[in-house]
Amino acid sequence: MKTHILNHPLIDHKMSLLRDSKRKMPEFKMLLDEIGFLMVYEVTKDLELQDTVIETPICVSKAQKLKSHPILVTILRAGLGLLDPFMKLMPNSKVGFLGMDRDEVTLKPRSYYDKIPMQALENKVLLIDPMLATGGSALNAIDFLMGKGVKDITFICLVAAPEGIKAVHEKYPQIDIYAAALDEKLNDKGYIVPGLGDAGDRIFGTEDNENL
Ligand code: PRP
Ligand code: URA
Repeated sequence: MKTHILNHPLIDHKMSLLRDSKRKMPEFKMLLDEIGFLMVYEVTKDLELQDTVIETPICVSKAQKLKSHPILVTILRAGLGLLDPFMKLMPNSKVGFLGMDRDEVTLKPRSYYDKIPMQALENKVLLIDPMLATGGSALNAIDFLMGKGVKDITFICLVAAPEGIKAVHEKYPQIDIYAAALDEKLNDKGYIVPGLGDAGDRIFGTEDNENL
Protein backbone atom coordinates (compact mmCIF):
# COMPACT_ATOMS: atom_id res chain seq x y z
CA MET A 1 0.00 0.00 0.00
CA LYS A 2 1.10 3.61 -0.12
CA THR A 3 1.63 6.94 1.48
CA HIS A 4 -0.60 9.59 -0.04
CA ILE A 5 0.54 13.16 0.52
CA LEU A 6 -2.44 15.33 -0.35
CA ASN A 7 -0.95 17.87 -2.67
CA HIS A 8 -3.66 20.47 -2.92
CA PRO A 9 -3.15 24.25 -3.08
CA LEU A 10 -5.90 24.98 -0.53
CA ILE A 11 -4.58 22.38 1.90
CA ASP A 12 -1.01 23.74 1.55
CA HIS A 13 -2.24 27.32 2.04
CA LYS A 14 -4.26 26.46 5.13
CA MET A 15 -1.42 24.32 6.54
CA SER A 16 0.89 27.36 6.33
CA LEU A 17 -1.62 29.34 8.41
CA LEU A 18 -2.15 26.49 10.87
CA ARG A 19 1.57 25.93 11.51
CA ASP A 20 2.16 29.58 12.47
CA SER A 21 2.99 29.72 16.19
CA LYS A 22 1.07 33.01 16.49
CA ARG A 23 -2.19 31.33 15.43
CA LYS A 24 -4.66 31.49 18.32
CA MET A 25 -6.85 28.60 19.42
CA PRO A 26 -10.18 29.59 17.75
CA GLU A 27 -8.55 30.11 14.36
CA PHE A 28 -6.39 27.01 14.79
CA LYS A 29 -9.49 24.88 15.29
CA MET A 30 -11.31 26.50 12.39
CA LEU A 31 -8.37 25.78 10.05
CA LEU A 32 -8.14 22.21 11.31
CA ASP A 33 -11.80 21.78 10.46
CA GLU A 34 -11.38 23.25 6.99
CA ILE A 35 -8.34 21.10 6.21
CA GLY A 36 -10.24 18.12 7.59
CA PHE A 37 -13.11 18.66 5.13
CA LEU A 38 -10.67 18.82 2.23
CA MET A 39 -8.97 15.65 3.48
CA VAL A 40 -12.24 13.71 3.75
CA TYR A 41 -12.89 14.45 0.08
CA GLU A 42 -9.55 12.91 -0.92
CA VAL A 43 -9.47 10.03 1.55
CA THR A 44 -12.92 8.73 0.57
CA LYS A 45 -12.49 8.87 -3.18
CA ASP A 46 -12.11 5.07 -3.52
CA LEU A 47 -15.07 4.05 -1.34
CA GLU A 48 -17.27 1.46 -3.01
CA LEU A 49 -20.73 2.35 -4.30
CA GLN A 50 -23.79 0.23 -4.95
CA ASP A 51 -26.77 0.77 -7.23
CA THR A 52 -30.02 1.95 -5.74
CA VAL A 53 -33.34 3.31 -6.97
CA ILE A 54 -34.66 6.66 -5.80
CA GLU A 55 -37.76 8.66 -6.47
CA THR A 56 -37.10 12.31 -7.21
CA PRO A 57 -40.00 14.81 -7.36
CA ILE A 58 -39.84 14.23 -11.14
CA CYS A 59 -39.38 10.48 -11.68
CA VAL A 60 -38.01 7.18 -10.47
CA SER A 61 -34.29 7.04 -11.18
CA LYS A 62 -31.24 4.86 -10.76
CA ALA A 63 -28.65 6.27 -8.33
CA GLN A 64 -25.65 5.14 -6.34
CA LYS A 65 -25.02 5.11 -2.63
CA LEU A 66 -22.18 4.00 -0.38
CA LYS A 67 -21.94 0.21 -0.09
CA SER A 68 -20.92 0.59 3.55
CA HIS A 69 -20.01 3.41 5.89
CA PRO A 70 -16.41 3.43 7.11
CA ILE A 71 -15.86 3.24 10.85
CA LEU A 72 -14.04 6.27 12.26
CA VAL A 73 -11.53 5.64 15.04
CA THR A 74 -9.71 8.54 16.58
CA ILE A 75 -6.75 8.66 18.94
CA LEU A 76 -7.45 10.85 21.96
CA ARG A 77 -6.85 13.59 22.61
CA ALA A 78 -5.61 15.40 19.52
CA GLY A 79 -7.57 13.16 17.17
CA LEU A 80 -10.75 14.84 18.39
CA GLY A 81 -9.59 18.01 16.62
CA LEU A 82 -9.75 16.27 13.24
CA LEU A 83 -12.78 14.06 13.83
CA ASP A 84 -15.59 16.52 13.27
CA PRO A 85 -15.31 16.98 9.47
CA PHE A 86 -15.31 13.17 9.07
CA MET A 87 -18.40 12.83 11.28
CA LYS A 88 -20.18 15.67 9.48
CA LEU A 89 -19.57 14.31 5.97
CA MET A 90 -20.22 10.68 7.00
CA PRO A 91 -22.95 10.98 9.62
CA ASN A 92 -23.76 7.25 9.36
CA SER A 93 -20.25 6.25 10.36
CA LYS A 94 -19.89 4.71 13.80
CA VAL A 95 -17.08 6.18 15.87
CA GLY A 96 -14.51 4.53 18.12
CA PHE A 97 -11.92 6.00 20.48
CA LEU A 98 -8.47 4.97 21.61
CA GLY A 99 -7.02 7.01 24.45
CA MET A 100 -3.25 7.27 24.65
CA ASP A 101 -0.52 9.80 25.25
CA ARG A 102 3.25 9.77 24.77
CA ASP A 103 5.56 9.53 27.74
CA GLU A 104 7.62 12.70 27.31
CA VAL A 105 10.89 10.96 28.18
CA THR A 106 10.62 7.56 26.50
CA LEU A 107 8.27 8.84 23.72
CA LYS A 108 6.38 5.54 24.10
CA PRO A 109 2.57 5.67 24.01
CA ARG A 110 0.58 4.86 27.17
CA SER A 111 -2.96 3.60 26.59
CA TYR A 112 -5.72 4.73 28.92
CA TYR A 113 -9.02 4.05 27.12
CA ASP A 114 -10.62 2.10 24.29
CA LYS A 115 -14.14 1.84 22.88
CA ILE A 116 -14.45 0.45 19.35
CA PRO A 117 -17.72 -0.40 17.54
CA MET A 118 -18.14 -4.11 16.68
CA GLN A 119 -18.75 -3.17 13.04
CA ALA A 120 -15.04 -2.30 12.76
CA LEU A 121 -14.50 -6.02 12.22
CA GLU A 122 -16.33 -6.02 8.87
CA ASN A 123 -15.81 -2.48 7.61
CA LYS A 124 -13.05 -0.18 6.51
CA VAL A 125 -11.62 1.71 9.49
CA LEU A 126 -10.33 5.25 9.09
CA LEU A 127 -7.86 5.78 11.96
CA ILE A 128 -7.47 9.50 12.63
CA ASP A 129 -4.69 11.31 14.49
CA PRO A 130 -3.26 14.70 13.42
CA MET A 131 0.37 13.78 14.12
CA LEU A 132 2.49 10.83 12.96
CA ALA A 133 5.83 11.46 14.65
CA THR A 134 7.83 8.41 15.86
CA GLY A 135 4.84 6.29 14.81
CA GLY A 136 4.58 4.81 18.32
CA SER A 137 0.97 5.94 18.88
CA ALA A 138 -0.17 4.89 15.41
CA LEU A 139 1.46 1.46 15.80
CA ASN A 140 -0.04 1.03 19.26
CA ALA A 141 -3.48 1.82 17.81
CA ILE A 142 -3.02 -0.47 14.80
CA ASP A 143 -1.67 -3.30 17.00
CA PHE A 144 -4.74 -2.94 19.21
CA LEU A 145 -7.22 -2.92 16.32
CA MET A 146 -5.54 -5.79 14.44
CA GLY A 147 -5.37 -7.74 17.71
CA LYS A 148 -9.17 -7.42 17.97
CA GLY A 149 -9.58 -8.72 14.41
CA VAL A 150 -9.92 -5.48 12.43
CA LYS A 151 -8.64 -6.12 8.91
CA ASP A 152 -8.92 -2.97 6.81
CA ILE A 153 -7.27 0.14 8.31
CA THR A 154 -6.34 3.44 6.66
CA PHE A 155 -4.30 5.88 8.75
CA ILE A 156 -5.07 9.58 8.34
CA CYS A 157 -2.95 12.40 9.72
CA LEU A 158 -2.29 16.05 9.16
CA VAL A 159 1.49 16.06 9.49
CA ALA A 160 3.70 13.00 9.02
CA ALA A 161 7.40 12.60 9.77
CA PRO A 162 9.41 10.21 7.56
CA GLU A 163 10.33 8.26 10.72
CA GLY A 164 6.64 7.61 11.51
CA ILE A 165 5.77 6.55 7.98
CA LYS A 166 8.74 4.17 7.92
CA ALA A 167 7.80 2.66 11.28
CA VAL A 168 4.18 2.03 10.24
CA HIS A 169 5.04 0.67 6.80
CA GLU A 170 7.81 -1.59 8.10
CA LYS A 171 5.36 -3.37 10.39
CA TYR A 172 2.17 -2.95 8.35
CA PRO A 173 3.04 -2.58 4.64
CA GLN A 174 -0.65 -3.19 3.78
CA ILE A 175 -1.83 0.03 5.44
CA ASP A 176 -2.47 3.19 3.41
CA ILE A 177 -1.35 6.43 5.05
CA TYR A 178 -2.89 9.78 4.07
CA ALA A 179 -1.19 12.99 5.24
CA ALA A 180 -1.82 16.65 4.48
CA ALA A 181 1.92 17.26 4.71
CA LEU A 182 5.15 15.27 4.85
CA ASP A 183 7.68 17.09 7.03
CA GLU A 184 11.46 16.88 7.28
CA LYS A 185 12.30 14.99 10.46
CA LEU A 186 11.91 14.67 14.22
CA ASN A 187 13.87 16.77 16.70
CA ASP A 188 15.58 15.29 19.76
CA LYS A 189 12.35 15.65 21.77
CA GLY A 190 10.35 13.67 19.21
CA TYR A 191 8.57 16.72 17.78
CA ILE A 192 8.01 16.97 14.06
CA VAL A 193 10.16 19.60 12.27
CA PRO A 194 8.89 22.07 11.12
CA GLY A 195 5.60 20.58 12.38
CA LEU A 196 3.07 22.63 14.29
CA GLY A 197 4.09 21.92 17.88
CA ASP A 198 1.98 19.85 20.23
CA ALA A 199 -1.32 19.33 18.41
CA GLY A 200 -3.34 18.41 21.53
CA ASP A 201 -2.06 21.46 23.40
CA ARG A 202 -2.81 23.80 20.52
CA ILE A 203 -6.33 22.41 20.01
CA PHE A 204 -7.29 22.38 23.67
CA GLY A 205 -5.31 25.38 24.92
CA THR A 206 -3.00 23.56 27.32
CA GLU A 207 0.34 24.79 25.91
CA ASP A 208 1.34 26.84 28.88
CA ASN A 209 -0.59 24.98 31.56
CA GLU A 210 0.90 22.71 34.16
CA ASN A 211 -1.50 19.82 34.72
CA LEU A 212 -3.56 20.08 37.88
C1 PRP B 1 0.27 13.27 19.87
C2 PRP B 1 -0.48 12.94 18.61
C3 PRP B 1 -0.18 11.48 18.43
C4 PRP B 1 1.21 11.35 18.99
C5 PRP B 1 2.16 11.21 17.84
O1 PRP B 1 -0.42 12.89 20.99
O2 PRP B 1 -1.82 13.24 18.67
O3 PRP B 1 -1.10 10.63 19.08
O4 PRP B 1 1.49 12.54 19.70
O5 PRP B 1 3.44 10.94 18.28
P1 PRP B 1 4.16 9.55 17.99
O6 PRP B 1 3.99 9.27 16.54
O7 PRP B 1 5.59 9.81 18.36
O8 PRP B 1 3.54 8.51 18.87
P2 PRP B 1 0.10 13.22 22.46
O9 PRP B 1 0.89 12.08 23.02
O10 PRP B 1 0.78 14.56 22.47
O11 PRP B 1 -1.23 13.26 23.33
P3 PRP B 1 -2.47 14.26 23.28
O12 PRP B 1 -3.19 13.94 22.02
O13 PRP B 1 -3.23 13.88 24.49
O14 PRP B 1 -1.96 15.66 23.33
N1 URA C 1 2.86 15.00 18.81
C1 URA C 1 2.54 16.27 18.54
O1 URA C 1 1.47 16.75 18.94
N2 URA C 1 3.39 17.01 17.82
C2 URA C 1 4.56 16.52 17.37
O2 URA C 1 5.31 17.26 16.69
C3 URA C 1 4.89 15.18 17.66
C4 URA C 1 4.01 14.44 18.38
